[in-house]
Amino acid sequence: MPIDRTVKIAPSILSADFANFGAEIEAVEAEGADWVHVDVMDGHFVPNLTFGPALCKAIRPHIKTVMDVHLMIAPVDPYIDAFADAGADILTAHLEAGAHTHRTLQAIRGAGVKAGLALNPGTPVEAAAPLLDLCDLVCVMTVNPGFGGQKFIRTQVEQIRKLRKMIGDRPVHIEVDGGVDPNTAPMVVEAGADVLVAGSAVFRGGSVSNPAPYGENIRAIRDSLAGRA
Ligand code: DX5
Ligand code: ZN
Repeated sequence: MPIDRTVKIAPSILSADFANFGAEIEAVEAEGADWVHVDVMDGHFVPNLTFGPALCKAIRPHIKTVMDVHLMIAPVDPYIDAFADAGADILTAHLEAGAHTHRTLQAIRGAGVKAGLALNPGTPVEAAAPLLDLCDLVCVMTVNPGFGGQKFIRTQVEQIRKLRKMIGDRPVHIEVDGGVDPNTAPMVVEAGADVLVAGSAVFRGGSVSNPAPYGENIRAIRDSLAGRA
């Protein structure tokens, strides 16, 4: 089955007000978000800590679009059922998180959730080749994972282009995560990405009581793609 390759913007709630996730999600969806990206960090696989399955379960009722959960944790397998039970639509695990990514992707699908595979900037995309038939999404990191607001790593654009060729007709989304804004979005879309995660570039300047900037920021990313998406 062909998939929807039109560009989808997935705001990362890592840049939202942590005391107000429900309202932030509703505001950003009302302002045009296509998916909601949830960055789970364990202070071990990445040098930062965020939240786990209980938070995911609590915010699930506020998400009307797609709950896209990015697991920056190691190990992954012991937590798959908990995140599936929390209502994730997509669970993305890092290739670098363990020795048995093939098993992890099978387990995610086995839990009834779409499976994503994330690749750090230091990992050649070719490493994903044997796993593509187990993936619904590949996430190319354009920063080293751990923090929002980092500088986009330009050399990853060529990795996205290679990955797009490798995927061919497979129904696999290409997501790009890190430093996506109106300057960098056209490059990654031209290279083949269809899901754009953006944290600081979406949430900057707005708040739950003043959500209009979220819409302006999302539109600025879309407008930067004019003629491309
Ligand atoms: C990085 C996270 C990203 C990040 C995106 O570890 O996976 O989702 O928060 O944030 P910006 O768009 O601010 O680079
Ligand atoms: Zn992410």
